[in-house]
Amino acid sequence: SIGFINGKYVALDEKAVPIEERGHQFGDGVYEVIRYYNGEGFMLEEHLERLEKSAEAIRIDLEGGIDSIRTIIEEGVKKAAIPDCSVYLQITRGAAERNHLFPKDVPPSVSMTIKPMAPFSKEMLNNGVSVITHPDERWANCYIKSLNLLPNILAKQAAAEKHAYEAILYKDGKVTECSSSTIFIVLNDTVITTPLSKQILPGITRMAVKEICEKAAIRFEEREYTTEELFSADEVFLTSTTSEVLPVTHIDDRKVAEGTPGNLTTLLMELFKAKTG
Ligand code: PDD
Repeated sequence: SIGFINGKYVALDEKAVPIEERGHQFGDGVYEVIRYYNGEGFMLEEHLERLEKSAEAIRIDLEGGIDSIRTIIEEGVKKAAIPDCSVYLQITRGAAERNHLFPKDVPPSVSMTIKPMAPFSKEMLNNGVSVITHPDERWANCYIKSLNLLPNILAKQAAAEKHAYEAILYKDGKVTECSSSTIFIVLNDTVITTPLSKQILPGITRMAVKEICEKAAIRFEEREYTTEELFSADEVFLTSTTSEVLPVTHIDDRKVAEGTPGNLTTLLMELFKAKTG
């Protein structure tokens, strides 16, 4: 594993952030998580584009733009020499005396960690995971990959305390996404997921699954759906950069269909694996 902050490589436990740093004090920043497979960044450009949009949305100006971030990531991965790794990249509004207002003439802080990623446990892939449902208590701009993750943390912790892997979030009776992943259902051989809006993060893995469905002529529908539809789904799976495509077989202690990964989910897992080389 390797750490990086503002131009310097550091050990992960090095004390490198000033107390008065806005990411630290306010969560005033944005981030990305990118997966490398065999030395290749998976959909790196899509992640960089989303990061650029997140930074713009909270009005952080990147000197050198997104190209400078790409360089930092690529040099970091080369230096770390871990072919299968996850890259965590964070940009904050920088270090300044604590004040809610934006500081003047303070450069953003850029930090990164690069850590090895082991393949997912066979047990989770073969049996699927259990999840809970939980109210979506987040703000109105969840399309921004913001450092402010308190509602996500509380939801995921609630899941863990029920021995579940994730929390499916719902608002006004409709499913939005999970605490740190995208959720899909399969109904009548159609893969269904919540449409993109300010209410959810535009998942990069979601984009990959959509492309896979189009290529494989699997019906793919983006529409809102209710928690009732979730419970009556033929199959359920979640996706994220670190979870990839993962079957969900139990929700709130109820079985999804027969309680085993569904056929379309299994097919999508295979097609996704093929895409990551
Ligand atoms: N989470 N929704 C939320 C709220 C997320 O935090 C994430 C990613 C996703 C899936 O997006 P993607 O497919 O681009 O990883 C959806 C990352 C992995 C994290 O916070 O660790």
